[in-house]
Amino acid sequence: MTSTATHLRPSHLRLGVNIDHVATIRNARGGLHPCPLRAAELAAAAGADGITIHLREDRRHITDDDLATLAGAIQLPINLEMAATDEMLAIALKHRPHAACIVPERRAERTTEGGLDAAGQHNSLQPIVARLTDAGIRVSLFIAPEQRQLDAAAQLGVPVVELHTGPYAHAVADDAVAAELARLARATDYAASLGLETHAGHGLSYANVSPVAALPQLAELNIGHFLVGEALFVGLEAAIRHMRQLMDASRAA
Ligand code: PXP
Repeated sequence: MTSTATHLRPSHLRLGVNIDHVATIRNARGGLHPCPLRAAELAAAAGADGITIHLREDRRHITDDDLATLAGAIQLPINLEMAATDEMLAIALKHRPHAACIVPERRAERTTEGGLDAAGQHNSLQPIVARLTDAGIRVSLFIAPEQRQLDAAAQLGVPVVELHTGPYAHAVADDAVAAELARLARATDYAASLGLETHAGHGLSYANVSPVAALPQLAELNIGHFLVGEALFVGLEAAIRHMRQLMDASRAA
């Protein structure tokens, strides 16, 4: 990958707040509390630029009713994370979120563990990308920061990729963290050279967000689990505001 791309340098780094785990806590007891819609409204008040939700096949957190409620009630753009299945395609076409991020999904996984194999699954992804795009939904692919996957995303004609920051977030040794960050940096440059808008997410926290937020080609971060966990201690708005400050300070530096 080269580092020559100089276009697509958004100064404002958008924050998409993933509220899946508000629903996880609600579902632990059934009932209505805590309410994802209320979380989305608080996120908007705290400076979120979008709301991200993952409607999983097993509905372990966000449900169809949550999607319907949020789609009808909030002003912020909704980014629907979805598996590339006929069921999810039909749901996305019904609710027409602003964006759809296609993610790999394995039933037994605790969370989205790897990136989508856009290169290996071109033929099955192509019609789904086309249907979503035709419906005016901005499609992104959640992929590892690899040239092969970025080339495949460009071939599929998506406008956006979301880079999986899990390996960066889970790296412990300094040299491993630096290597993963360098991989993300090269991927953001290469994506920009292909004309792709680049987002990133997974495992981001106060402790590790700043170097990622400083990558100039990134347009958006999607952050969920850490914010919902931190909200237990400081409240959701305060957690989001602090994350926003860290991102803005890093971007301004
Ligand atoms: N982006 C994508 C595509 C994801 O699947 C997830 C996890 O649902 C996130 C971002 C947010 O990750 P986290 O909850 O670890 O912040």
